[in-house]
Amino acid sequence: MNQRKRVAVIFGGRSGEHIVSLRSASSIMEAIDQEKYEIVPVGINRDGSWLTGPDAWFSLWENRRPEKASTAVMVTDPTRPGLLIKSSEKANGWVFETIDLVFPVLHGTCGEDGTIQGLFEMAGLPYVGSGVLASSTGMDKAVMKVLFKEAGLPVVPHLVLYREQWLSHQGMWLDQVQEEIGYPAFVKPANLGSSVGISKAYDSQALIAAVEEALLYDHKLLIEQHVEGREIECGVIGNREVTASRPGEVIPCNDFYDYRAKYLDDRSGLVVPVELGSDLENKIKEYSVRAFQAIEAAGLARVDFFLNRSDQSVIVNEINTLPGFTNISMYPKMFAASGLKYSALVDRLLELAVERHQYRQSLLSAPPE
Ligand SMILES: Nc1ncnc2c1ncn2[C@@H]1O[C@H](COP(=O)(O)OP(=O)(O)O)[C@@H](O)[C@H]1O
Ligand SMILES: [Mg+2]
Repeated sequence: MNQRKRVAVIFGGRSGEHIVSLRSASSIMEAIDQEKYEIVPVGINRDGSWLTGPDAWFSLWENRRPEKASTAVMVTDPTRPGLLIKSSEKANGWVFETIDLVFPVLHGTCGEDGTIQGLFEMAGLPYVGSGVLASSTGMDKAVMKVLFKEAGLPVVPHLVLYREQWLSHQGMWLDQVQEEIGYPAFVKPANLGSSVGISKAYDSQALIAAVEEALLYDHKLLIEQHVEGREIECGVIGNREVTASRPGEVIPCNDFYDYRAKYLDDRSGLVVPVELGSDLENKIKEYSVRAFQAIEAAGLARVDFFLNRSDQSVIVNEINTLPGFTNISMYPKMFAASGLKYSALVDRLLELAVERHQYRQSLLSAPPE
C-alpha cells in the first residue's frame, strides 16, 4: 500500500523572483525524502497560469511549451483537497488528483505575501511556512517595522510616504527628509523584494528620482536613514517554539546589496557562520526569535540585520518569510552551520507544516451546538 504523502512543490510565480524560485525548488525537490513523500511538481508561469507533471519544472526553466505537463487548477473545496488537471486523453476532460500538503517555494508578490497562503487555507491544506497574516506583514516593510518596534526591537529611523502625499507636498517631504533622515537616504517600495525599486540617494535631486522610481512599483514607500554597517542574517525554524541558527554575513560587491549584487554578480560573498563573539551572536539570535514572533511567523524565516560599524549596535532591517532556498542560499547554509543539514531541514519544515495544520484543525471554528 502506498503510504507516502503527496506533497505539491509549487515554484515559479509572477514575481521578479521567478528564476530564484525555480532554483530553490530544484534543490528542495532533490532533497525531499521520497520514501516518505511523493512529489507533485506544480509550476506557476509568469502569466499566473498553473501546470503540473514531470516536465513542469523544465518547461518553466526553458520557457517552452510543456510536453509532459498539463494545465492544473487547485481545488478550493476542503473536503477534497487536490488539483484538477486537464486530461491529455479526453477533449475538455479534467482528472482530479489529491494532495496532502504543500511546499510553496515562491518568493515575493503572490507567493510570499499571504495571497497564495489564503488559497491553501480555503483548500484546507497544510503548507510550509507562515500563514496569511505573517506572510503579508513580512512583505510590507512599513508594517513589519511597526510590529518590530512594538516588540522592543531597534529599527532604522524612517519615514513612510504615500504617493498622494508626495504628489501634493513634495517640498515639505524634501524638508522633512533633510531634517529627520539626512543623506544618503534609502528609498524603497514598501511591498517588494530582491532590492527591486530600491535606491540610495545622496542628495535631494537624487531623492526625487529615487521616489519616482520606487513609485513605479508601489503607492507606499519608505525613506530610511543610511546605516553604515555590516549585513548580518540569521535563520529561524519552528512554530510556537522556535530556534535560531548561527548567523551569517553578506558582503555585497556593490555600493549596497542591490539586484545585481544579489543575483548577477558572483563577487558578493557569504560568510557562514560569521564569528561575532558569543554576546553579539546571542543578541542576534534573540532578536531573530523576537522578530519571528512579533509578526507571528511559522515554519521558517530569515531575519536580516545591520551591525553598525561605529558602535556595534544591532538594527533589525527586515524579515523574509520564504527566504532563498537553493543549497547554496543563506538560510540553509546557516542551518547547516548549526548542525541541521539541507535534507533534514526540508524534512523538518514539512513536519512543522503538518503539526501547525493539525493544531489549527483542533480549534473550534464556531461555538459547540
Ligand atoms: N537603511 C539602510 N542602510 C544601509 N543599507 C541599506 C538600508 N536599507 C537597505 N539597504 C541595502 O539595500 C539592500 C536591500 O534592502 P532591503 O530592505 O533588504 O530590501 P529587499 O527586501 O529588497 O531585500 C540591503 O541588503 C542593503 O544592502
Ligand atoms: Mg533584504
